[in-house]
Amino acid sequence: MSEQILIFDTTLRDGEQCPGASMNIREKLEVARQLARLRVDIIEAGFPIASDGDFEAVKSIAGEIQGPRIAGLARCVDTDIDRAAEAVKPAGDRARIHVFLATSAIHREFKLKMAQSEILKRAVEGVQRALGYCKDIEFSPEDASRTEPEFLAEVTHAVIEAGARTVNIPDTVGYAAPHEYGALIKYLFDHVPNIKKAVISVHCHNDLGLAVANSLAAVQNGARQVECTINGIGERAGNASLEEIVMALKVRKDAFGGYFTNIDSAQIYRSSRLVSHMTGMVVQRNKAIVGDNAFAHEAGIHQHGMMANRATYEIMHAEDVGRSSELTWGKHMGHHAVAKKLDEMGYKLSEDEVRRITDQIKALADKKKQVYDDDVMAIVEGQFTEVPQVWKLDYLSVTTGKIPTASVCLIRADKKEPITDVGTGDGPIDAMLKTIDRITGLKGSLADYSVNNVTRGKDAIGEVTVRVHFNGDAGRIVTGKGGSTDIIEASALAYLNALNRYLYEQRQTAETEKPTL
Ligand code: KIV
Ligand code: ZN
Repeated sequence: MSEQILIFDTTLRDGEQCPGASMNIREKLEVARQLARLRVDIIEAGFPIASDGDFEAVKSIAGEIQGPRIAGLARCVDTDIDRAAEAVKPAGDRARIHVFLATSAIHREFKLKMAQSEILKRAVEGVQRALGYCKDIEFSPEDASRTEPEFLAEVTHAVIEAGARTVNIPDTVGYAAPHEYGALIKYLFDHVPNIKKAVISVHCHNDLGLAVANSLAAVQNGARQVECTINGIGERAGNASLEEIVMALKVRKDAFGGYFTNIDSAQIYRSSRLVSHMTGMVVQRNKAIVGDNAFAHEAGIHQHGMMANRATYEIMHAEDVGRSSELTWGKHMGHHAVAKKLDEMGYKLSEDEVRRITDQIKALADKKKQVYDDDVMAIVEGQFTEVPQVWKLDYLSVTTGKIPTASVCLIRADKKEPITDVGTGDGPIDAMLKTIDRITGLKGSLADYSVNNVTRGKDAIGEVTVRVHFNGDAGRIVTGKGGSTDIIEASALAYLNALNRYLYEQRQTAETEKPTL
């Protein structure tokens, strides 16, 4: 009988740890809902001790999301474990506490200043304390791939004996090579007598671009849980990408041992888009499975082959991962028809949200010949990243040429009168942003600016993503998104979205210091 590979998604924890990818609670909940539709087995919802925001997000996800297990991360420290336990409690018997402690010599000597015996003791105590709260405990020996294999086997044996149901073997710094990592998993199976009592998991980082290859090598050697993130986002070069793992196991079942996952692959593309939208982490065009070019065939010889038989140049279909663009949206659709279609697409929205989306679809249909599913997804995703609009765009007029000039009119939520100003800059965008800064009294500095077309055609929606530092706070990057058929307007909307998010975050409870991992 074919065996299942469990998919442990850590987009909301390790993924969110990458600079500029932070999400607010509403956004995290929306991603969690999509992960449930994708049918991941475990959602690692966050690191509850890290901040009050992280704690609340994990707790809300544990309370609302049905289906997947909900995990919260904790160091091997009592206060961490207690906080994680409280956050995942609403998930009931689907709650998991994920405890970690570094085991490699370099971490022992320089970070923890602890001997092997102390590590062993603390790991066991951590698992035991977590077991006081729930049955499903995962233990991770951080930097496992650089740990002495004998010591790693000893720790693995001890934490399983203490009651850990899952032992995760992280390649924390993305150092392993596939043959070594596969051999390390095999070594554990050969040297840990109680290993069959636990699920062996893998967690690979992508510093050498080997995260997916390493994860698959581990699966071939006995691992039955893979930790990964949507679009491979994560610390530094990221984590193993969920979509690549899942589709490799599915498309090359013959090569990777015939295992299956519970993932609904038709939800992959939507998950990728949503995470990209929420985090502002743009997906590269040639990214496997979810990049814009992943299923595009430009060369004539390829197109000719494809017409004769799709299998000549296609190993999977775009539809397998939920990529299709139907032309079924139009300005004559009423909000009931829109609600029905959005429901079929898996979106659960309030009556008010559907009405707003319907108005936006109609407005777009007036500007653009054809409205595709992707256009509608962009509109729906826009609802999720919405924060209270302290500053709203009323109108904008920009001229370019020798002295680029912008005339901007903004409305402040608590004031009746709109405020208008005119300013110049190095280019039309610069002129506009400087004028917005003057009106709002904030000072933004662009860390990143990108434009993407949502669909094809000259009249496609341009989606602008900006990453901004406000008021000289170089440590805090705020992401903003805006879409319009006019990219200057899309840029203004994206910048105002970032600015409103900054003001919103400032009003939220001040974040407690994030502990370093
Ligand atoms: O990369 C890593 O080692 C981690 C652990 C906390 C599992 O993210
Ligand atoms: Zn990690």
